[in-house]
This record gives sequence, structure tokens and C-alpha cells, in this order.
Amino acid sequence: MNAPTMQGLHVQAPAYVKNTRLIAWVADMAALCKPAKIHWCDGSREEYDQLCQQLVDAGTFRRLNPAKRPDSYLACSDPSDVARVEGRTFICSEKKEDAGPTNNWMAPAEMRATLQPLFDGCMAGRTMYVIPFSMGPLGSPIAQIGVELSDSAYVAVNMKLMTRMGRAVHDVIGAEGGFVPCMHTVGAPLAEGQKDTTAWPCNETKYIVHYPETREIWSYGSGYGGNALLGKKCLALRIASTMGRDEGWLAEHMLILGVQNPEGRKYHVAAAFPSACGKTNFSMLVPPRAFEGWQVTTIGDDIAWIKPQADGSLRAINPEAGYFGVAPGTNMQTNPNCMLSLARDVIFTNVALTDDGDVWWEGMEKDTGHLPEHLIDWKGQDWTPAIARETGAKAAHPNARFTCAATNNPALDPAWDDPAGVKIDAMIFGGRRSTTVPLVTEARDWQEGVYMAATMGSETTAAAVGQQGVVRRDPFAMLPFIGYNMSDYFQHWLDLGAKLQAAGATLPRIYCVNWFRKGADGKFVWPGYGENMRVLKWMLDRIEGRAQGQQTAFGIAPQYAEINWQGLDFSAAQFATVTHVDASAWAEELQLHDAHFDKLAWHLPPQLLATRGALQQRLGI
Ligand code: GTP
Ligand code: SPV
Ligand code: MN
Repeated sequence: MNAPTMQGLHVQAPAYVKNTRLIAWVADMAALCKPAKIHWCDGSREEYDQLCQQLVDAGTFRRLNPAKRPDSYLACSDPSDVARVEGRTFICSEKKEDAGPTNNWMAPAEMRATLQPLFDGCMAGRTMYVIPFSMGPLGSPIAQIGVELSDSAYVAVNMKLMTRMGRAVHDVIGAEGGFVPCMHTVGAPLAEGQKDTTAWPCNETKYIVHYPETREIWSYGSGYGGNALLGKKCLALRIASTMGRDEGWLAEHMLILGVQNPEGRKYHVAAAFPSACGKTNFSMLVPPRAFEGWQVTTIGDDIAWIKPQADGSLRAINPEAGYFGVAPGTNMQTNPNCMLSLARDVIFTNVALTDDGDVWWEGMEKDTGHLPEHLIDWKGQDWTPAIARETGAKAAHPNARFTCAATNNPALDPAWDDPAGVKIDAMIFGGRRSTTVPLVTEARDWQEGVYMAATMGSETTAAAVGQQGVVRRDPFAMLPFIGYNMSDYFQHWLDLGAKLQAAGATLPRIYCVNWFRKGADGKFVWPGYGENMRVLKWMLDRIEGRAQGQQTAFGIAPQYAEINWQGLDFSAAQFATVTHVDASAWAEELQLHDAHFDKLAWHLPPQLLATRGALQQRLGI
């Protein structure tokens, strides 16, 4: 075996690694980052257990009480490293226009010159983990291979749960196969003999960098979530969206679910909601009692790769193999399947620790009926209900997350791992809007659906660092994740629909939803969660031609009587509160659409302006 060397370090790949380009790249990167050791991850359970133990010994992990939460761990991050850093995320295409007005951009040469000194020696004193992973079923023609080099064992064990990671990936790429190189460092080198003074090393300086043309990812300074688990947002969305543009498919921030009615007819729905706006919840939905015989199953909870087929259908796979989901708010009432998924083999990050060695987060009191008397909060401080009342301190960080394998999910769809994916029958777009946007409407055609998605607004959440609760346009829930110019992406969607339609295909229906409209009392009017089944059922009734709906300015809405209200006390007046299209609010909304389109003027598809004009006309404003 060819074994390139670097100064003082022998880059000896295991015998099963045959890809000379990979070995050479690892050698180059080791020469740059200067780690003390290289560990080639094989993805085995033994390796996972060993790395977890190592993280326990280092103080990064705390092993949870095995009687309560077997094989599970709690990690608490540095308080400065708790979410994606959109302001530090860059799309470094050759031309600025190709990154578009919604992305941070720097010329590739300039970015490379910036990163070079940062990466030089960045892994000193640490181990460089070589993490081979497949996004999508191993060997599937739709899947993409990535290799992440990281100096974080936390990243390695999370990647094991989130992706198909390990030795089998080397068999897939063989001697010649390609892979997306993903460089990651926490940016905290250790001098000779120096020990970590923190359990979560990271750097104040952060860069999350993508080179779409050369399909490379370079991430510096953060150990958290989408900043560091590079298969997820960086590869499966930002890089994959550019692959999809070039190759005629879609990489989307969408859950995928299966829904089967009591007669046994099954449909598949993909839904795009912005970060922390209910994808995991919706993908694991438990129908209310009135829906006996209905079954909802999960294919994916965050990302969908959707490809047009020769027969004109759109088939989708979930490129991931696990969930990195929001913990706060999750309980047996809002998401029982999720709670059951968290019974064992889970890595929790930034939740609170109970006195009996289990985890706790805000929302769990709904299950027990009371707050715990004492906790250690995610910052390591004592937490009591009295302290919380006084200081407002949260026990868990609002963006606290769990990592678990998809196979933990009792509602996992049997086709979740099918290389062929599932046929998509409907797509849903939904933001978090206190006002204006109705509970549900159906787009009259693909173009109107693309308009609804392109103009989607949402109140920002703790999933990203920055101000929370302000409405911003988040087209297709892809604002932080699109790897190229947003308007070209709109055009790509329109072109794909037009092409399929020209070939005689029936396109999936497109729906716009909003679970988050608030009443005069400031509370959500729609009960949400499992009750969203009532809206989902109406969509299927539309597809099956059993619900007539009613025309509104913004698509086709349900009539009150078309929704199954059995077992839910929700009056026609309440329904009006969440469905009403208010002309004056929409006049303001249209101005926001205009400002949004002004920003995206370069390459903005003219069809969207035409749809906007028709909308204004229907509103009579
Ligand atoms: P990312 O993993 O960040 O992409 O987010 P996600 O879309 O998977 O978010 P998740 O399902 O974890 O949503 C979490 C937040 O949405 C929590 O605050 C939930 O309480 C809230 N949520 C989810 N579904 C509903 C719903 O139907 N109604 C209301 N009001 N809130 C909901
Ligand atoms: C999101 O923010 O949409 C997530 C979490 O799914 S992270 O992977 O951290 O981006
Ligand atoms: Mn997400």
C-alpha cells in the first residue's frame, strides 16, 4: 500500500482504503493541519463506544443514567457555540452573482488565502478523524459520498448516527470513485504538552465555507450542528443544491412522510418549513383518535433529494440516516414518536441534567405535570423553578438538540432506506407567521406554488445565531442553505415543473400552510402537532377529488365543513381566525414581496412577477 508521509507522521491508511486520491488528500491535509494522530473511522459499534468513552474521559460527554437512558450522553457546548452561524457562512463561487444576493460571498482565491493560515497547524496536539460517509443508501445511484476530516471526536460519533458512516463507504468509492472533501476543525490547536482547559474547544473566529464549483467544504472554529456535521447542511443542501441545478434535480430543506388511509391507499408528502418550525414534528405525526386506521410514517425529517424519473414522477430520498432535532418543546403530547426515539443510544447537546442522571428540557413538564425541583442547566449552573422565575434562565438552550439514528424511530417508514426513494404526491411550504398567512391553501398550479414558496416569510428561531422572532423572507425554507443565486433556484424549480408538464406528467400539488397564526391574546389559535392531520387529510381529499375547497386570492382554501372536526372543539369562528385573508394585511404583505423581489431582481423569473400581479388583482387592491 502506498503510504504517503508527512513531517513526523505516517499517513498509514487501513488496507481496505484503496482510493489513492483520498489517501493523498488526507496526507496533504494532515501536512497542513499537523494533527498528532490520524484515526481512520471504520464506523463500527466498538469504535463508536470507544470514542464516546474517550469523550466521557475528556469531560465533553457525561454518560446518562443507564437505567433511565441506556447508552446515551449529554454534551454541553461552549456558550458561544450553540447554533449555525449564518453571518459566517460563505458561498465562494468564482462570480459573486452566482452566490446571489442572499449569500455571503468572497472570491475563492481570497478565501483560500484567508483560510490557509487558519488551517495551518490547526489540529496540533489533536487527532484527525477521517470520516467517510454516504448521503443516501450505500451504493444508491442517488447517493453522494463525502469524507470529513475533523479534529472533533464529537463530530465523528454524531456522523455515525446521522449518516451511513464507515468502512463500507470505502467499498463504494473503491480505487477511483469521487467524494466531496469536507474539512473541519474546531480551530483550537494544542501546543506541545498543553491540555484542553475546556470540554468544548472552539474558536471565536468562524468560517463555514463552500466552493460550489470545486465542490469542497471548509469549516473552521465551531463544533456545533450544521457548522460541523458537514454532511447535513453543507453537503446535502448547499453543495447538493448546486449539483441539482447542474443535473436537473432538487435538494430541499424538506421532511418526507408517508400517509396511509384506512383503505390502504398510501401517499408521500414532502414539506419545507424553516429551521425549528415543525419538520421533525410533522414527519412523526400521530393522528388524533378520530383518524383511526390512518398511519403516518417517517422517511426523513430535514432534507429531501428529489429526482425526476423517466415516467414523469418525482421520487425522493432522505440523504440522512439520523435526526439532529430540536429538544425543547418535545414531549409525549407534541411528539410521542420522537420521545420514544430518544429512549436509548442518543447524544443530547445543551439540554439540562436531572439529579438522577437523566435529561430535561422546557416542555417536559407537560408530561409530568410539574417542573423538576433541581437541575444542572446547559451552562452547568444550578437551576430551580425559583431561579427560572427570577432570572428567566432556561434549563436547556432553546436550540438544544438530540442526535439519534433513524432506526430509533418507531414510526420509521419501511421505504426509508430504499435506494429508489418514494414518489412524491404533494409538497407543502410553511412558515411561522403570527398574522396574514392562512392555515392552508392549495396552489392553483405549479407556478403559483413556486410563488408561494419563493415569497414565504417566517419569524426567525434559535436555530441560527442572531435576532429571534422577526419576520424575514425564507424562500423554500432554503435561505440559509441555497448554494447559488436564489433567483436561478426559482427558475430551476419553474423549469423542472414546465419540463415534466410538457412531457405529460401530473405534478405534485403544492400547498402553503401556517400553523402559527396568533389570536388577539397572543396565543396560537391552531392546536397544531397531531391535529395537523386534519389539514393533511384535506390535502389528500383534494388529490382524490373529494374536497371542492373555495377560491381565495391566495390559492384554494378548505371550506369549514370539509375538515374532519371529530374530537376537536374548533368553531367556525376560530377557523375564520386562522383562514381569513385580510386585504389590508395582504396589501402590506405584497409590499414585502416587492421588496424581496427587488433584492432578487437579477435573473428573477418574470413568471413570478406575473403571479404577483394576478394576486394583487384578486385581492382587489
Ligand atoms: P430544524 O431541525 O431546525 O430544521 O427544524 P424542524 O423544522 O425539524 O423543527 P422541529 O420539528 O424540531 O420544530 C420545533 C419547534 O416547532 C418547537 O418549538 C415546536 O414546539 C414547534 N412546533 C412544531 N410543530 C408545531 C405545530 O404544529 N404548532 C406549533 N404551534 N408549534 C409547532
Ligand atoms: C437547521 O437549523 O435547519 C437544522 C439544524 O436542521 S443544523 O443542522 O444545526 O443546521
Ligand atoms: Mn434543518
